[in-house]
Amino acid sequence: MILDLKNLKTAEKQYYLQHVVAPRPVCFASTIDKSGNVNLSPFSFFNLFSSNPPIIIFSPSRRVRDNSVKHTLENVIEVPEVVVNIVTYDMVHQVSLASCEYPKELNEFAKAGFTPEPATLVKPAMVKESKVKMECKVIEVKPLGTEGGAGNLVICEVLRMHIDDSLLDENKKMDQRKIHHIARLGGDWYCKVDETNLFTVPKPNTELGIGVDSLPESIRNSKILTGSNLGQLANVNELPLIEPSFDDAHLKNIIQYYSVNPDEMERELHSYAKELLDDGRVKEAWQVLLALN
Ligand SMILES: Cc1cc2nc3c(=O)[nH]c(=O)nc-3n(C[C@H](O)[C@H](O)[C@H](O)COP(=O)(O)O)c2cc1C
Repeated sequence: MILDLKNLKTAEKQYYLQHVVAPRPVCFASTIDKSGNVNLSPFSFFNLFSSNPPIIIFSPSRRVRDNSVKHTLENVIEVPEVVVNIVTYDMVHQVSLASCEYPKELNEFAKAGFTPEPATLVKPAMVKESKVKMECKVIEVKPLGTEGGAGNLVICEVLRMHIDDSLLDENKKMDQRKIHHIARLGGDWYCKVDETNLFTVPKPNTELGIGVDSLPESIRNSKILTGSNLGQLANVNELPLIEPSFDDAHLKNIIQYYSVNPDEMERELHSYAKELLDDGRVKEAWQVLLALN
């Protein structure tokens, strides 16, 4: 299917885009108007855009239904300050409740059952239950259109972060496994980040990986190794050499049984290398593949 966005109704554009540009982190924005009315609403059109200056942006859209604007947008125009509270799994149902379209004078802290905690640099309150809160100054509000569905970028400079000690290790570094972020996808779908779905990818080689195009042909054209496996192998800065000290019983077995049939031996070695790569053991996988030569 090919979609030309200009031929779609706004609701259809929203439907496909939100399913595809996902998962999106959720900003739980606390704002106030000039009379001091409090607002607390979630926004998944949200991300980090700059570290220096430290800039995060979220986007309250014009309603598709009637082209009206959201209280959060009115508030940041009146009082250009916001606390962005990060949403974790234990908060998700209350956060969803806070997205109900309550009248302006109703306080979503109370409606959703969250506790307001005074911020230190800005007027809107922080959500006590959130494990990370960012006190921000709104430096610009940029409308992206005038029709229903048009976003309004609320460009925020982060002034101060409050990070719960439970998310830190002994060196005050963030332990990614402990922040159980949630993220929004299409429709009613959310996802939860925890140890069962987190994984690490080593940073690309700073001395430049050789690249998939420089891998030996038999590896590059393997029917067993995947594109992702080739990416792992190609992140070395030069082709590895055979290490005589590499002593692996399974490798020895493969060589012993299949040496009479080079095609089968290649298949077995690639399968074993794939197992090692899928386990993150790139050095060992290289040694297995080098045994072919
Ligand atoms: C998880 C979640 C994410 C949302 N993301 C957005 C968003 O990025 N932009 C938006 O305009 N509305 C978003 N909404 C809907 C708003 O939260 C909702 O319209 C809210 O009532 C706005 O409140 P306000 O008028 O008090 O500012 C989201 C709702 C939920 C539950």
